[in-house]
Amino acid sequence: MKLKRVLQYAQDLLADAIEEGATVVDATAGNGHDTLFLAKLVGDNGQVYAFDVQKEAVDATLLRLLDEGLEHRALVLKDGHENVAKYVTKPVSAAVFNLGYLPGSDHDIITKPNTTITAIEELLKLLTIDGIIVLVIYHGHEGGKEERDAVIDYVSRLPQKHVHVLKYQFLNQQNDPPFVIALQKVKELPEQ
Ligand SMILES: C[S@@+](CC[C@H](N)C(=O)[O-])C[C@H]1O[C@@H](n2cnc3c(N)ncnc32)[C@H](O)[C@@H]1O
Repeated sequence: MKLKRVLQYAQDLLADAIEEGATVVDATAGNGHDTLFLAKLVGDNGQVYAFDVQKEAVDATLLRLLDEGLEHRALVLKDGHENVAKYVTKPVSAAVFNLGYLPGSDHDIITKPNTTITAIEELLKLLTIDGIIVLVIYHGHEGGKEERDAVIDYVSRLPQKHVHVLKYQFLNQQNDPPFVIALQKVKELPEQ
């Protein structure tokens, strides 16, 4: 047995949580790798909502879906994930975030603590019981540590009877490798 790499672990969590016909969210579409992965899992009766603030990312994601003939399974939105509730009204089985910047693109356009936390809050409301949110946290870039710390602070304070919060991280790797935070909703959260 080999310990799962971080990205494999994240994908396995999503695959376990998503059934055909599910509604799911890719909160950071980027080059569309996760959107495509989710589109394969939800089947023809499911729906992926993919968000990115950059046109370049939206275009790359649409192209990746078109290449596989799966564009009908995803709605790719050029908007921030903090606005998820404007678009998604159905219960969500799973959501994924890859925090940081779009590889091969402008390193100044990064996910930010406030908008990331707002999106998590909104998704927790939309999530089904047993649904999951998977965050892959890249924190080596400028601004990454602030976001990492803010997200960890926020998720660590979620009430444990309502949300199970897990961290999966290799502790002795060099150069700020990414790690996973996973949230599983186990009971409706109290209205705020
Ligand atoms: C690490 S990349 C995502 C990589 C992607 N999952 C893939 O498969 O290529 C992070 C992405 O988040 C996007 N982003 C930044 N702020 C955002 C926001 N408020 N809402 C949605 N996407 C955002 C960036 O434009 C960037 O494309």
